[in-house]
Amino acid sequence: MKYEQLIDLCKRRGFFYPTAELYGGLAGFYDYGPIGVEILNNIKKEWWKSLVHDNTNIEGINGSIITNSKVWDASGHVSEFSDYLVKCCKGHEFKADQVIEEIAKKKTEGLGVKELQKIVDKIMCPKCKSKFGKISKFNLMFSTGLGPENKETVYLRPETAQLIYINFKNVLNTTRQRVPFGIAQIGKAFRNEISPRNALFRMREFLQMEMQYFVDPKEASKTLDRWKKERLNWYINLGINKAHLRLREHKNKELAHYAKKAIDVEYKFEFGWKEIEGIHNRGTYDLSQHEKLSKKDLKYFDEEKNKKYIPAIIETSAGLDRAFLVFLADAYAEEKVKGEKRVVLRIHPKLAAYKVAVFPLVRKDGLDKKAKKIFDTLNNNFNTLYDERGSIGRRYRRQDEIGTPYCITIDYDTKKDNTVTVRDRDSMKQKRVKIDEILDYISKNL
Ligand code: GLY
Repeated sequence: MKYEQLIDLCKRRGFFYPTAELYGGLAGFYDYGPIGVEILNNIKKEWWKSLVHDNTNIEGINGSIITNSKVWDASGHVSEFSDYLVKCCKGHEFKADQVIEEIAKKKTEGLGVKELQKIVDKIMCPKCKSKFGKISKFNLMFSTGLGPENKETVYLRPETAQLIYINFKNVLNTTRQRVPFGIAQIGKAFRNEISPRNALFRMREFLQMEMQYFVDPKEASKTLDRWKKERLNWYINLGINKAHLRLREHKNKELAHYAKKAIDVEYKFEFGWKEIEGIHNRGTYDLSQHEKLSKKDLKYFDEEKNKKYIPAIIETSAGLDRAFLVFLADAYAEEKVKGEKRVVLRIHPKLAAYKVAVFPLVRKDGLDKKAKKIFDTLNNNFNTLYDERGSIGRRYRRQDEIGTPYCITIDYDTKKDNTVTVRDRDSMKQKRVKIDEILDYISKNL
């Protein structure tokens, strides 16, 4: 199975590791390794550029993970942000909708607790074949205690979005922005998922890339259309096959408590079409709630239109770890080369951990010195890897597996004519290029 092989590659090559493997791990938590963190940072950079730097009316912030709990009262997360939990007679716990979809093979979208219970009563626990009990509600927020003796309950944020809403007036008052404008943020969010699964796909601690766009409520629907197209294109422009992406609108019964309309960007994983990003029309729900609970005026006076209103919010909420998986899953390929299996990660050069790798053919006769000089020049411009150990063939294969677009080999001919071999990851074609032109050549082709 391709997905399993990809996960295997990720562990083998240091993309990510289950956290605390030394102690048996902890379900739903992962650590990114040396290659993974580079790719992750590149995805962040591309997202930030496409939203914050390419749009003069979008600003960035970095909010705190723990904030005043009233924020989560206002947002509805304390009362509404829950999953349905079901336990069998022997205490095995499942998310009700997941166990139904897997065992009863029934769709659960939009079903209420009574309807779910009816189905659960007819199925058995997949672990021990005993009966299930009553479905209960379970809040997904992690809580912790603040101050001496942990007296005050506070929460680890379940979404980055609220940190943006509570800073709406701060950003408005400290920048030159006028509605319509957006605020973007990348950061950790936490959800106490009952069944984390599919490696990075459903984690308990994860990364969100969220942008909240504040508009006149009359413009909300048009703005949602704009952002759903822009966000879909972001994935396509970074190399994801169009046929593996789709937009899916939520049915009314599926809508989250804050959403008036929701469209998912979905990716065709081996385990089915899954959400990787949500584009939501949150209407005036969030700012109205914060206005009500904080008793502060969060209305906006629109000078051009000469009217005062609470702006509606169009949200683009992407899972960064999911985007990471998508970019890898879509890039992963296996092919036969001279009877041997070649694994190659055809990831977009902008996202690749290293843009180029430099190899001296051997570690002697001055080839290594020449290679180090070329490495220094390239590394000043883009993340470059230096490797002088093992056969050239094996060194190429290592770079193919982590998606390095170009490899440069310094050999005995280099000493004669000052040229090097440049090998292309995707075609495996090799070309001689003059040392003086190598920086230009790589820059042009990235
Ligand atoms: N901010 C929307 C979400 O976390 O799903």
